[in-house]
Amino acid sequence: MVQEELVANLDTSRGSWSSKIGFVVAAAGSAIGLGNIWRFPYVAGQNGGAIFVIIYIFFVVLIGLPVMISELAIGRNTTKNPVGAFKMLFPNSLWKVIGGLGVITGIGILSFYAVIAGYTVGYFIKIVLGDFARIESAAQAGEIFASFTANPFISIGLLFLFVLLTVLVVMGGVSAGIERWSKILMPILLLLLILLAIRSITLPGAEQGLIFYLKPDFSKFTLTTLTWALGQALFSLSLGMGTMITYGSYISKKDNLVTSAGYVCFFDTLIAILAGLVMFPALFAMGMDPAGGPKLVFVVLPSIFAKMPGGMIFGAGIFLLLAVAALTSTISLLEVPVAYFVDEHGWKRKKAVILMGSVTFLMGIPSALALGANHFLTNFIKENFGFLDFMNALFGNYSLSIGAFFIAIFAGYQWGTKAVANEVEQQGNIFFLRRLWIFSIRFICPLAIFVILAYIAWTGNYF
Ligand code: TRP
Repeated sequence: MVQEELVANLDTSRGSWSSKIGFVVAAAGSAIGLGNIWRFPYVAGQNGGAIFVIIYIFFVVLIGLPVMISELAIGRNTTKNPVGAFKMLFPNSLWKVIGGLGVITGIGILSFYAVIAGYTVGYFIKIVLGDFARIESAAQAGEIFASFTANPFISIGLLFLFVLLTVLVVMGGVSAGIERWSKILMPILLLLLILLAIRSITLPGAEQGLIFYLKPDFSKFTLTTLTWALGQALFSLSLGMGTMITYGSYISKKDNLVTSAGYVCFFDTLIAILAGLVMFPALFAMGMDPAGGPKLVFVVLPSIFAKMPGGMIFGAGIFLLLAVAALTSTISLLEVPVAYFVDEHGWKRKKAVILMGSVTFLMGIPSALALGANHFLTNFIKENFGFLDFMNALFGNYSLSIGAFFIAIFAGYQWGTKAVANEVEQQGNIFFLRRLWIFSIRFICPLAIFVILAYIAWTGNYF
């Protein structure tokens, strides 16, 4: 009786998804965000265009999908946060350290992610105020962005605002907030991107951009292309730090984890590819540098709006949706440390959320000053590779790659492929492509990730 009550209590305080669609939408909401629309195009632009895109897609299928299935299975089996999950499956082992790395990575990513997310809110406001109504060139759009981010009060204020929004939603619990929002808004985002892509592709001079984006130039291939493609695939799919373990812990046993993961990977990749189709044709049509870095979307999008009838309404819409897409991602980033402190240390949800939110905000300040407000932070590693880029590479590429490596080892060898298959096959579900998954999680994932990380460590070419 007491036991039952306890279980019931735990259940309501953790929450759960209302249906399979609910989970897919929420997980897609976590996956789809600035990673697709801000990070993917600029990283692709810096890493050779089409050749990067091809490798990226390979990594999504061969590494992303198998790791996602593993994370979901671990989460659903244990119904725990990453640290608790590893602890439960292998008590008194070092595996919980990997969960701990995930908790730290969540805060690390959130700290710079919320800065960029804050800028999307700022851009929404700027567009509504008419700041872009009269721009004539991409250079002008670039100047507007530069002076905007050079203001420390605006940058820190917007960071604060976005962390606050995330804190408020996460405080409200799991399914209610996240699901409801994502279900309505993600399809609208997809539609707007399609319209923007059409406008971009039909600009005079757009062909060069399509060639850059779609026709691989093998001479542009370098080994750092691999690091960024791997990091980008994991980042975009929210893998390698236990987000999907935490989300998996809320999925019903009735759902097929393989098809759920498949949907999430498909939609996430679709949105990223579309974002590239918006960005590159316009970029080349306006004679900009595809390797322009983090400012890319903020310069290219307003330049496209300026060339569309009703462009500013469009612009306001897209930045608002981007902010919402970012919010459904920041929620999932904050949820990992919060679930950890609630489950493992018995903290009240409210206390965990407020404390983690505060830490994130403080950690985010140097990133907020790294796009022009502070000279040292703006050129932290090298000229124009600032503190934000540093955090992005450190947490967004390396932490996630290390996490994904160990998750693959864990699922492939330690917990074992039988245990994962058992979890997937709950309630008569079919494990589609099971042999392929086994091969990938045991051999392709660990080997590919290891080789890439070893190469980076060996050459010292970290950034
Ligand atoms: N995937 C999200 C995006 O593309 C960002 C994100 C949310 C994330 N949760 C994550 C990245 C966990 C890595 C790990 O915008």
